[in-house]
Amino acid sequence: MQSLSRVAHVAILACFSLMFITKGVSTLVSKNGLSNYSFPDKFMFGVATAAFQIEGAWNEDGKGESMWDTYLHKHPNFTVDHTNGDLATDSYHKYKQDIIMLQSLGVKYYRMSISWPRILPNGTDHYINKAGVRYYRKIFQELIKAKITPVVTLFHWDLPTALMDLGGWTNPKMVDYFEDYARVVFSLFGDMVKTWTTMNELHVHCYNGYDLNAFVPAMQSHGIGVYLCSHYMLLGHARAYHLYDKEFRPKQKGKIGLTLDVFYAEPKDSNNKEDVEAAERYLQMHLGLYAHPVYSKEGDYPALVRERIDNMSRTQGYPRSRLPVFTPEEVEMVRGTSDFFGINHYTTVLASASSMEPGWLVPSLDHDAGVKSEQDPKWPIPGAFWLAVYPPGLRKIVNWITNNYGTRVPIIITENGVCDSGGLNDYERVSYYNKYLYQLLLAMHEDGCRVEGYFAWTLMDDFEWSDGYTVKFGLFHVDFNHPERKRTPKLSALNYREILRTRRINFNYIKMPSYKYNNL
Ligand code: NOJ
Repeated sequence: MQSLSRVAHVAILACFSLMFITKGVSTLVSKNGLSNYSFPDKFMFGVATAAFQIEGAWNEDGKGESMWDTYLHKHPNFTVDHTNGDLATDSYHKYKQDIIMLQSLGVKYYRMSISWPRILPNGTDHYINKAGVRYYRKIFQELIKAKITPVVTLFHWDLPTALMDLGGWTNPKMVDYFEDYARVVFSLFGDMVKTWTTMNELHVHCYNGYDLNAFVPAMQSHGIGVYLCSHYMLLGHARAYHLYDKEFRPKQKGKIGLTLDVFYAEPKDSNNKEDVEAAERYLQMHLGLYAHPVYSKEGDYPALVRERIDNMSRTQGYPRSRLPVFTPEEVEMVRGTSDFFGINHYTTVLASASSMEPGWLVPSLDHDAGVKSEQDPKWPIPGAFWLAVYPPGLRKIVNWITNNYGTRVPIIITENGVCDSGGLNDYERVSYYNKYLYQLLLAMHEDGCRVEGYFAWTLMDDFEWSDGYTVKFGLFHVDFNHPERKRTPKLSALNYREILRTRRINFNYIKMPSYKYNNL
């Protein structure tokens, strides 16, 4: 631990000598490469991780199995490199190193998640695993000692297998189970954790896992399970919010919200009305479906989404809509249940209208949306195929959220980042963070959007779901061949630390090897 601390600090100091001048960007950047705009002092800068992607120790100290454990053990070829999360970055044993890394970055906030089956091995609250409780209490204590505020996600996709066996989020009873779990967690950790996010990325979770077979549980209940999952997750979130609000907030005095996700959608041809409508439909089907019930004044699903899925269901011969219906009481229960708008954003697509594309199933969310999405060949793709770099997308999505839901609650970027194929000299990641954060400054200063926090994804290279360990998102490199899972800071870690220190983007801080990273 000590030696890691020294390594991290020495490497960071050594790399300060790498500061030279690069070309580029815009008139809002001064001659010395510094952005003219800055982030306010109280802006929450952090990094984010998730339990299943880093902890390992899948069966240690009484932990129950999550659906990802069980599924990957049964289907070892599911991930592209045939790996699983059994060891991951071994943060169950190395969390103290992780905290030293956080300190070396200078972050004041750390978004992490609790593994539900580590606390409740069978999913339900009749039995609590004390070793799991001790583990998280120690992390929170160490974080607070290091003056880092924990921001804690209750559910980042690692559902206890015992509950998946009951149908996972397609089962209405999950709403009760999630509330029970939330009660346990608030009671056990609410003295130390003051910012909660109930759930991570409802769209990705339900679409990849329940509509498609891209993520566990690989249910392929296309066009049906995907909306049951969305519906009961929204209700579960709302129940946890009210539980906290009534029973815990008065004493614990914290905040609680939700983390959604979206790729921004640009019309493929902005002069073509159908493309413009397709882009809006994409945003409504991917984000509005989850955000409107919670953040709009009137609540409930957006009219566009409701009508579209109702009509499709009718013409397809279904006796009722495949999108479940909230009762008026449920609309009220879900409305307004978030103290902030947590949004994960990575990339943008070009949208055009289409009634059928190769690969779409009928029914399915894609078919219901009727939007063909593609990437602009001009956008760089440094790692995974889906992540094309288009920095203005962040400014645009923050504006879209503001225009649709107002400024009652602040926006927090709960994840943003890029993957590459590895290495310490991660110029693409440096460039990505500089440019995306710069667009965020523009959204805040020029457009008046209320953005109060930003979390980089992610602290270190980790288990990237179906991509296994093949793509790297970390600010710190992890040597997965090393028995100690050795961590080393990348150039992007140094750059992020400098942004946090100065509250500005310094485009000259890391010397870029060529102009190719400055072409946006
Ligand atoms: C969002 C998810 O929350 C996170 O778990 C994942 O690793 C990143 N996207 C990158 O794909």
